[in-house]
Amino acid sequence: MMSSTAAVTAAIERVPVEICKGINGLEKVILREVRGSSAEVYLYGGHITSWKNDHGEELLFVSSKAIFKPPKPIRGGIPICFPQFSNHGSLEQHGFARNRFWSFDTNPPPFPTNSSNKTFVDLILKPTEDDIKIWPYSFEFRLRVTLGPSGDLMLTSRIRNTNTDGKPFIFTFAYHTYFSVSDISEVRVEGLETLDYLDNLQNKQRFTEQGDAITFESEVDKIYLSTPTKIAILDHEKKRTFVIRKDGLPDAVVWNPWDKKAKAMADFGDDEYKHMLCVEAAAVEKPITLKPGEEWRGRQELSAVPSSYCSGQLDPKRVLLGS
Ligand code: BG6
Repeated sequence: MMSSTAAVTAAIERVPVEICKGINGLEKVILREVRGSSAEVYLYGGHITSWKNDHGEELLFVSSKAIFKPPKPIRGGIPICFPQFSNHGSLEQHGFARNRFWSFDTNPPPFPTNSSNKTFVDLILKPTEDDIKIWPYSFEFRLRVTLGPSGDLMLTSRIRNTNTDGKPFIFTFAYHTYFSVSDISEVRVEGLETLDYLDNLQNKQRFTEQGDAITFESEVDKIYLSTPTKIAILDHEKKRTFVIRKDGLPDAVVWNPWDKKAKAMADFGDDEYKHMLCVEAAAVEKPITLKPGEEWRGRQELSAVPSSYCSGQLDPKRVLLGS
């Protein structure tokens, strides 16, 4: 028979969505799936700060020096870049969505593709009067974060132009995902080879990627253009493959600051660049235009699978083309 403590623990563990206080008393939501996977979302930034698999292993990188204090965005996890990616415009770097307080969306409009997933949270961001002074548009940004039964993490953004003065607006966007990797020099990205990219380290000049797969031995900051809907990150040491599936987000940013930039960032450990890689599903090259009443949707689905899946031999074609 179960002891009363075990029964209480089991009851708590079954709660699929829990709201509680996180670091510095900031409100966060914990999503839990029965098989043991979990995810955490801070209302500050609508920011995912944790995604764990069935074994409780953390799959996202969050810096040990991350500052969980407004107005600083949280270093790691999945910051949302909106309405501007990076410095591609006159707003602050990566826009303001990542350092605003989001709210619970208690009555979201229905999703046309209704799935059986029960473990999700809906957040919403609307501009304040101060926001409208720096970006003079009215919008509703709805974010649904879903944890699937097998531990997949789905993010769906729905952005609507709610201007009443007939004004369209234009924005760029990214899910700035920081993946946790064992050792950056053992990592390979598949799905971006032979594509064109804009190199942020060379004045955003356009180049074409050469060679088989993308590996890392120095700083990288590239925006790959017109990318496939599926990209894989292979971590040989961990024998783990992350698969990113995306929709509505044609570009993919690949970023690692390497040693020099790491040292220059106050909220990032000097050696932490070895254990992270950002692959960001994005819409940058062709900004999105929304007329009043129009809605845009951008979706990213992350899964982490063992690389030893195909009898010890990783077959990139199966990773990229398989289901
Ligand atoms: C990446 C950009 O997406 O984010 C880089 O391509 C930038 O240029 C990096 O340095 C981190 O940005 P931030 O504002 O979070 O330090």
